[in-house]
Amino acid sequence: MSAPLSAQDEAKRRAAARALEFVTDGMRLGLGTGSTAAAFVDLLGARVKAGLNIIGVPTSERTHMQAQSLGVPLSTLDQTPELDLTIDGADEFDARLRLIKGGGGALLREKIVAAASKAMIVIADASKEVQTLGRFPLPVECDRFGLESTRRHIQSAIADCGSKGAISLRNGADGHAFVTDGGHAIFDCALGAINHPEKLAAALVAIPGVVEHGLFIGLATTIVVADPQGVRLIGAA
Ligand code: A5P
Repeated sequence: MSAPLSAQDEAKRRAAARALEFVTDGMRLGLGTGSTAAAFVDLLGARVKAGLNIIGVPTSERTHMQAQSLGVPLSTLDQTPELDLTIDGADEFDARLRLIKGGGGALLREKIVAAASKAMIVIADASKEVQTLGRFPLPVECDRFGLESTRRHIQSAIADCGSKGAISLRNGADGHAFVTDGGHAIFDCALGAINHPEKLAAALVAIPGVVEHGLFIGLATTIVVADPQGVRLIGAA
């Protein structure tokens, strides 16, 4: 017998189930990464088994393996460069549908897939909702060449945008530097509050060693939020 779900896991599952209602036959879907996205892929797998006809593009090796094991037909952005909908989790979101993502290290592929999609539905439990982005450390994915130099540029960009905080190189479970699916490193920037997310996003992408950052702005079209009271939608229904 499987253990009962925690209240948070149960909320993630309810958000995932609500998002599944947006999926229709024939859709080309971006499949997110993380525990909430994994709950969605589980439910999607069951619908595929029952006859739903979709094709999925995973945002990580992890999601690829999960979806494959459930029999979800998969593609790549090379074969299927335009997607109808991406469904993904987030580490943080605000009322303006701005996100921080990358806690699971998949931000680069997640952003590429979201940008290839006509719509992006974010699924989350209510603990991810913030007034001001920045409570969750902002992941910044960097080329491994010249990391200390890149770190200093990131620090200056953050200061120019009116924030500050520790910037630490992410380690994996094995204690060594974490390496993304794309072979890059991640700096986690503990800023507490990001007062100018758009300005910071622009400043970070302008740094040569920065591959991508975890600020997702102008990508999410709907956020499905589950709390103990129920499920609500922010943005387009
Ligand atoms: C993966 O890199 C992230 O962007 C995830 O989408 C994010 O960390 C949310 O994960 P959980 O659903 O596990 O909280």
